[in-house]
Amino acid sequence: MLYFSFFGNMIVGIEIMIKNVQRSIPLKGEITIPADKSISHRAIMLASLANGKSVITNFSSGADCWSTLNIFKRLGIEINEINKKTIEIKSGGYLQKPFFPLDAGNSGTTTRLLTGILAGQGFDSEIIGDTSLSKRPMKRIILPLTQMGAKIDSVDGHLPLTIHGEKLHGIIYNSPISSAQVKSSILLAGLNAEGQTTVIEPVQSRNHTELMLEYMGAEISTDNNKVTVLPSKLTAKDIEIVGDISSAAFFIVAGLIIPGSDFVIKNVGINPTRTGIFDIVKRMGGEVNVFNRRILAGEECADIRVQYTDSLRGCVIEGSDIPKLIDELPVIAVLASQAEGETIVKNAEDLRNKEADRITCLVSELKKIGADIDETADGFIISGKSKLKGGVELQTYNDHRLAMSFYVAGLVCEEDIAIEGFEWTNISFPEFEELMSLLK
Ligand code: S3P
Repeated sequence: MLYFSFFGNMIVGIEIMIKNVQRSIPLKGEITIPADKSISHRAIMLASLANGKSVITNFSSGADCWSTLNIFKRLGIEINEINKKTIEIKSGGYLQKPFFPLDAGNSGTTTRLLTGILAGQGFDSEIIGDTSLSKRPMKRIILPLTQMGAKIDSVDGHLPLTIHGEKLHGIIYNSPISSAQVKSSILLAGLNAEGQTTVIEPVQSRNHTELMLEYMGAEISTDNNKVTVLPSKLTAKDIEIVGDISSAAFFIVAGLIIPGSDFVIKNVGINPTRTGIFDIVKRMGGEVNVFNRRILAGEECADIRVQYTDSLRGCVIEGSDIPKLIDELPVIAVLASQAEGETIVKNAEDLRNKEADRITCLVSELKKIGADIDETADGFIISGKSKLKGGVELQTYNDHRLAMSFYVAGLVCEEDIAIEGFEWTNISFPEFEELMSLLK
């Protein structure tokens, strides 16, 4: 079936892809995980704000990051694609008024960080997005940015956003949620505001913005869950992007649950604000071996070895665990289905505000293949170790992480499953299936 959709910055005819997944043989060998999506967005944004030339290597091929790249071209930045993964950015350190609405596609990170950047510019601009993005809450950034002096029109807190460029001033913001997108939006606005800007979070969220700002010379200081930035000019610098632990997570779970698996994943970003999945695997009685640690552009990365573990047991995942593994929770549910006893996920209500409602959609589809899982207001409860029967078609709800989590579940189902809308994996990880086939 062919239908037309907004994808990145283009309206394209795309085939709805039904993917059949079979029970897998043991996974063996070695793969290199592609670039981190969060860091790729920030690399384009900060290199565009810096004065000079930056070369970004190992840039993400996910559609979300290309939405960001195309938007900064529209903002007057010279961006050259040396090859698919090497991007050269030449900037005078300032942005130009765009002639058209800026299309963030499916990307919440693009929208929220960009709004912070645009709020303090000397021009007006508009951000639009696809159907899913247009349903996602933006009041969480509109509120603090407005306190800084921003003028942003929205449709009751949703896209399209019209941003009227204003002179901003710093604030101290006690964020009610731990969200790197909210924190980063405020910090990026703070770069161009009068006085100092502080964000305090309940629990520290991923700190890629802070690390890259520091790497590029901004005046920024962090004290656990409190960050302060001063108005700063950035220095252009080359940025090599580490691999995405959120992409590696699908392979980590597949390796732990497919009997006989034993393989290496190279170049995985292991920033401690992202490694919650390692803590959970340990809590469940398994282990991911981390070796060959190194630092790339201020971010730690390593190679990891994953081995099948038949003695996994359920655990509780809650509170300060959540920001460190928020994007991995759908695939952690698949892991929990293969662990003895009950796994309880609490305090994860923000999963309902992702590309889809990742609580309701996850629970409904995993039930279809035979998982013993129930929805709660702020998470889910799953009892293992269940045999997953399969033999059904699952819906992705146009959500890339649900699509890949269901694929991993399909690898241990007794009968084949079909996954409708599998093309959504292109949002973050177009190489997913190819890398999976390298291990089979
Ligand atoms: C991201 C932050 C997280 C995460 C998203 C990427 C980022 O969202 O879920 O995939 O790059 O800052 P929240 O900040 O909304 O938790």
